[in-house]
Amino acid sequence: MIDPLAARWRREFPIVSTCTYLVSHSLGAMPRRAVESVQAFADSWMTRGVRAWSEGWWEMGRTVGDLLAPIIGAPPGSISMHQNASVAQGIIGSCFRYDGPRRKIVMSSLEFPTNIYVFEGFRRYGAEIVVVPSPDPVRQDLGQLLEAIDETTRLVPLSLVLFRSSYIQNARAVIEKAHEVGAHVILDIYQAAGVIPIDLTALGADFAVGGSVKWLCGGPGAGYLYVRPDLAPTLEPAFIGWSAHAEPFVFEAAPIRYADAPERFQSGTPNVPALYSARAGYEIVAEIGVDAIRAKSQRLTRHLIERASEAGYRINTPTADAERAGAVIIDVPDGYAVTQELIRREVIVDYRPGAGIRMSPHFYNTDAEIDRAMDVLADIVSTVSSTDSRSQEL
Ligand SMILES: Cc1ncc(COP(=O)(O)O)c(C=O)c1O
Repeated sequence: MIDPLAARWRREFPIVSTCTYLVSHSLGAMPRRAVESVQAFADSWMTRGVRAWSEGWWEMGRTVGDLLAPIIGAPPGSISMHQNASVAQGIIGSCFRYDGPRRKIVMSSLEFPTNIYVFEGFRRYGAEIVVVPSPDPVRQDLGQLLEAIDETTRLVPLSLVLFRSSYIQNARAVIEKAHEVGAHVILDIYQAAGVIPIDLTALGADFAVGGSVKWLCGGPGAGYLYVRPDLAPTLEPAFIGWSAHAEPFVFEAAPIRYADAPERFQSGTPNVPALYSARAGYEIVAEIGVDAIRAKSQRLTRHLIERASEAGYRINTPTADAERAGAVIIDVPDGYAVTQELIRREVIVDYRPGAGIRMSPHFYNTDAEIDRAMDVLADIVSTVSSTDSRSQEL
């Protein structure tokens, strides 16, 4: 069977010819184009020196944000670039007060730890943190989350895709409820951007954060922050720097005169090399189109799930295509040790305690790679279990 995406793109991602690379939920493969782009950064620094700032570096946060925008359904000028998603969360938190009646921050216990750690820190400013427990490690009960959101809620950080299970949460329902009671939703789209279609504008999301390391194949250091265009001018973030000033090169005394969005959410000097590397990944994802990536991802993850079910493994990921994003989590005994052995045998995956072995195909992977990974896994599992039964006999 012809796989046009693999045929077109595998040679552009050198690592996939050296191993079975099934870890794009953690670190997407590096495109050759990123090598050229990072080289262009080095050349401009080396040959243009300080002039590089006025020859593109200074505006790069905005231009790179605008490349990302269509991938996540955001308009131009609505995205600022930051070191990572954690920093972006902190900036959002700093836009609000927590000393009045509206001071609750509500989230699920299944959120990525950053989202909980950052907002826990806002207790010192008066925030009340409500973490809705989820006995089910795969899905947060929507009703319980909605119930916790009320007229005293300020913010609801919500992962569109849960990192431990790849479950796609019902962002629309959460945003509707939050808006009904006057709260804002921060969508964490890190595990979604580049692998499932997202339309931030249609969803009415107030904020979105994420990074470029995973499905966007953009490398580390290029986090992003989307702010709803009509909301942005009403916000005055406290966690900013001189780049957020309307005229940063005037070096005025405080208080700051805020720039318009997206620069008003900026801190200091932009992370230029990371922006060069991220640009290449965004271009490729946009060129392929997220719909085509999603169709292939669903086919290959379905294949993974079929193989895992045949082998009788526990699957900690929704099996329904519509509920599942790009990763499949398989729980086998001694999962951590099994993962180490998979990696030793050149099947590159990762392991999360309480979840299992995370495996994820992206547009550059093939059906044959899924079969290879599952064959190697079966071999390791049978070796581990026969070693276990021998040790029990002793
Ligand atoms: C859903 C989600 N949010 C946030 C992060 C981390 O963000 P950052 O390291 O950019 O702060 C991750 C990383 O794995 C993630 O999966």
